Amino acid sequence: MRWPASVTVCEVGPRDGFQMEPSFIPTPTKIAIIDLLSRTGLREIQATSFVRPTAVPQMRDAEEVMAGLRREHGVLYAGLVPNERGAERAIAAGCDRLDVVVSATDSHSLSNTRMPTRRALERVGRIVPMARAAGRDVAIGIAVALGCPFEGVPPYARVEALVGHAVEELGLTRVSLADTVGMANPRQVSTTVAALRARFPQVAFGLHLHNTRGMALANALAGLAGGVTHLDASVAGLGGCPFAPGAAGNVATEDLVHMLAEMGIATHVRLDALLEVARRVEAVVGHAASALLRAGVPRRFPLAQHPAGSPGP
Ligand code: COA
Ligand code: ZN
Repeated sequence: MRWPASVTVCEVGPRDGFQMEPSFIPTPTKIAIIDLLSRTGLREIQATSFVRPTAVPQMRDAEEVMAGLRREHGVLYAGLVPNERGAERAIAAGCDRLDVVVSATDSHSLSNTRMPTRRALERVGRIVPMARAAGRDVAIGIAVALGCPFEGVPPYARVEALVGHAVEELGLTRVSLADTVGMANPRQVSTTVAALRARFPQVAFGLHLHNTRGMALANALAGLAGGVTHLDASVAGLGGCPFAPGAAGNVATEDLVHMLAEMGIATHVRLDALLEVARRVEAVVGHAASALLRAGVPRRFPLAQHPAGSPGP
């Protein structure tokens, strides 16, 4: 197996994680957590979403969150946008990147955005030039690409066609495949990623993995071995999808960073600082789904005891 030297971890807890919390997290608390995350070495943070406030009330303070956070040099702050109105808001609020989502199935698309996939894609086609005119990046996520709670695993051809449209018609170069409710398995991830990478070699592929059935880390490894370059994760393992039944949290950022560090794959994230934030998040929301929060980092042993080939501590 060939592993990459480094990988970009994109923290989505402030959006994917917080959006699932039933009670409103005060804006200053959100900002404080994002600021702490910004100082862990993470390079990408999806800070909020510019969606309809009545659809996701937790995200109704998107503008204040963006205005209040302290930008750390070298950190990219992204906002999720569902439509042109969201794009206008995200651009005005100063997001570096607009993250758009299109579902691989119409059922999920209708549940999530009240429009079929084709219309969601047309909307993305209008958002991209808006972002470009404002000098912002766009990344696209394909929701339920690896499994849909309403329709099962979408045919590969449909996922490839969506990616093809995003890449060839809209000129996007960063594409994330989402296992929105945690239905994927490592073999499926590896064949899907391999096929897409062969078809679109110019694209940086990422994975957005929910850990509903405990397979997120295994799926992340399958993706890494297949050449994905970035992985979404959520501090303290928060998250879900309000519009997809049964979605549990994302892979916990600290669990992912720990695994990568043990494997000698660089993320530039300081695990001790990240664990501090995870503890804080757990205290704020009252729960967490994270192995590292439970078990802590392993005791360190002298280098000599590591088998040859292991990167050691
Ligand atoms: N920000 C703020 N307000 C918005 C908005 C946005 N991005 N998009 C729509 N609205 C407002 C409109 O201004 C309009 O307000 P009005 O009734 O006062 O005139 C109202 O919402 C209805 O607009 P419409 O275009 O018909 O939107 P909709 O009701 O069909 O909602 C979405 C579509 C996609 C905007 C909405 O379903 C949504 O925000 N979903 C959230 C998706 C999400 O976050 N999923 C989880 C992450 S993948
Ligand atoms: Zn998600």
